[in-house]
Parts: sequence; C-alpha cells; structure tokens
Amino acid sequence: MTGPVSVRPATLDDVDALVAMLVEVAGEGRWIGTEAPVDVEGRRDRMVREVEGEDAIVLVAEAGGAPVGQLGLHLARYGVADLGMVVAPGWRGRGVGTALLAEAVERARKAGAHKIALQVWPHNAAALALYERFGFRREGYLTRHYRRRSGELWDAVIMGLPLD
Ligand SMILES: CC(C)(COP(=O)(O)OP(=O)(O)OC[C@H]1O[C@@H](n2cnc3c(N)ncnc32)[C@H](O)[C@@H]1OP(=O)(O)O)[C@@H](O)C(=O)NCCC(=O)NCCS
Repeated sequence: MTGPVSVRPATLDDVDALVAMLVEVAGEGRWIGTEAPVDVEGRRDRMVREVEGEDAIVLVAEAGGAPVGQLGLHLARYGVADLGMVVAPGWRGRGVGTALLAEAVERARKAGAHKIALQVWPHNAAALALYERFGFRREGYLTRHYRRRSGELWDAVIMGLPLD
C-alpha cells in the first residue's frame, strides 16, 4: 500500500470523480455490469440521488486526498442491501477493496439490513476471492443471463452474506 487508505461516506463533491472512475472501469469491459459508452449525465443524476437519499449508502475510499475506490449499497425495503463496488485500476490488490467492504458490512448492519447481496461475473477471480474472504456464499448461478453490447450472453454468480 502506498500511504494509508481511508473510507468515508461520499458527498456531492465526490460525484464527478466517482462517475469518472466508473467510466474508466466500464471501459475495461470485463469487470462490471455497466458498459461503455456510459451515460455520464444519467449516472451523475443517479449518484446525486443516492448520495442525498435514504435508500442508498455510497462510500468512497481515498488515498492522499484522491478517490481510489467506491462502494454502493442499495437498501431494499425487505431488508437486503445490494452491493456494487470498484477500485481504480492502479490501486487494486492493495487492500482498498477490503477496507471498503469492511466498512460496508458495518454500515449495512447499522442501517438495519439483514443481508448483503450481489452478483459477480464467474471470471472475476479477485472479486470472488474478496467476497468469499468476507464470508459471502455462492447462492445461485445465472446461465447466459446478461446480454452484453457485443451480443455475448454472460453468466453471473449470485452471492449473499447474512448479517443477522
Ligand atoms: C474486485 C475488487 C473490488 C477488489 O478490490 P481490491 O482492492 O483489489 O482488493 P484487495 O486488495 O482488498 O484484496 C482483497 C482480496 O481479494 C483477492 N484478490 C485480490 N486481487 C486478486 C487477484 N488478482 N486474483 C485473485 N484474488 C485476488 C485476495 O483474496 C485478496 O486478499 P489477500 O490480500 O488476503 O490475498 C477490485 O479488483 C476491482 O475493482 N476490480 C474491478 C471492478 C470489479 O470487479 N468490481 C466488482 C464487481 S462484482
């Protein structure tokens, strides 16, 4: 790790940088559901609503004053928190994801969620390993489920972490 990483709730001042990070990761084309070209204005509006509203928790990891990762939790009324996260390409494998996820588990619990749920591509070894290290279990498998812009149909692993 180059310098300490801290995790805090995102503010409106973070939104542009966090959307830019999502655009960069979407451009990699392999790791997240969002694909390029990203509707930047739409994402921006959505993130503003998430940061300001009560139904989501947005966390930012920063190092040296710059954002290096982000994590979003969407709190469903039935008690499940849906998780999505990205770490900036140059910062992976250095504990940023671990720091974000540890904070997210605490905040989801405090928000009253009984479970965290997520989906991950089967080829995403780093994400699968990270989630399993936190105790997430593989609960299901979606076969040829998501159509990518290339026309390919991708599988997804459904994972869950009970908090109760
Ligand atoms: C998945 C992701 C969030 C992990 O964040 P990270 O900061 O790289 O993770 P950490 O450095 O905290 O590593 C945590 C654990 O993940 C695993 N891991 C990390 N990189 C790995 C790799 N390349 N291959 C296999 N396992 C890996 C290890 O188990 C590691 O634990 P260890 O340090 O004890 O070995 C990050 O790689 C990322 O943003 N990837 C692109 C976007 C993405 O895939 N988002 C998740 C979509 S479901």
